[in-house]
Amino acid sequence: MSVAVRAARREDLAPIVAIYNHYVRTSAATFDLQEVAVDDRTEWFEAHTHGGPHRLLVAVDDAEGVLGWATSSTFRPRPAYTTTVECSVYCRPDARGRGLGRLLYERLFAELAHEDVERMVAGVALPNPASLALHARFGFRRIGVFTRVGRKFDRYWDVAWFEREARPPA
Ligand SMILES: CC(C)(COP(=O)(O)OP(=O)(O)OC[C@H]1O[C@@H](n2cnc3c(N)ncnc32)[C@H](O)[C@@H]1OP(=O)(O)O)[C@@H](O)C(=O)NCCC(=O)NCCS
Repeated sequence: MSVAVRAARREDLAPIVAIYNHYVRTSAATFDLQEVAVDDRTEWFEAHTHGGPHRLLVAVDDAEGVLGWATSSTFRPRPAYTTTVECSVYCRPDARGRGLGRLLYERLFAELAHEDVERMVAGVALPNPASLALHARFGFRRIGVFTRVGRKFDRYWDVAWFEREARPPA
């Protein structure tokens, strides 16, 4: 396996959406309830592919195609929040546990270290041991748990929130 991590290109959008929709259908990793359409994600794609604090990276294998993606996005819309980004990462189901989440976050955080970003945050619907391990590995601190804040698959879900400096301390 020879995997490259790079900025997403327009031709990656369909596989990015396919990976996302898998988790829409099967998991509380995302609180979307309906699958998304590629055409409806064009604006989102454009907002994350011109540099700056909001980025979209893919892990791609020449033979296997897009195996995962990671993004840094708007945390909350009010302008004073622009120096905070929310990070998320999704691997193709057959590509989990192969170190790709780690590769994607490594590259994303290296890129964000040069941007005007002060804090990175992440929300993890519980349970999700792989995501918890990934965020712990990258130094995210657990701030607390919002209980029963999402309802999906006819049950309520708790979400643990994490934060980290965007730049490692000197
Ligand atoms: C969460 C996710 C992105 C992690 O990426 P990954 O490529 O599977 O994970 P990696 O192989 O890079 O491993 C990262 C860490 O998680 C650990 N890990 C991986 N899978 C695990 C599992 N099933 N249970 C416990 N720990 C696990 C690894 O041991 C590693 O820990 P370490 O750095 O302390 O050694 C991936 O599993 C995924 O896409 N899950 C479904 C979608 C999702 O939950 N996204 C996150 C939303 S918050």
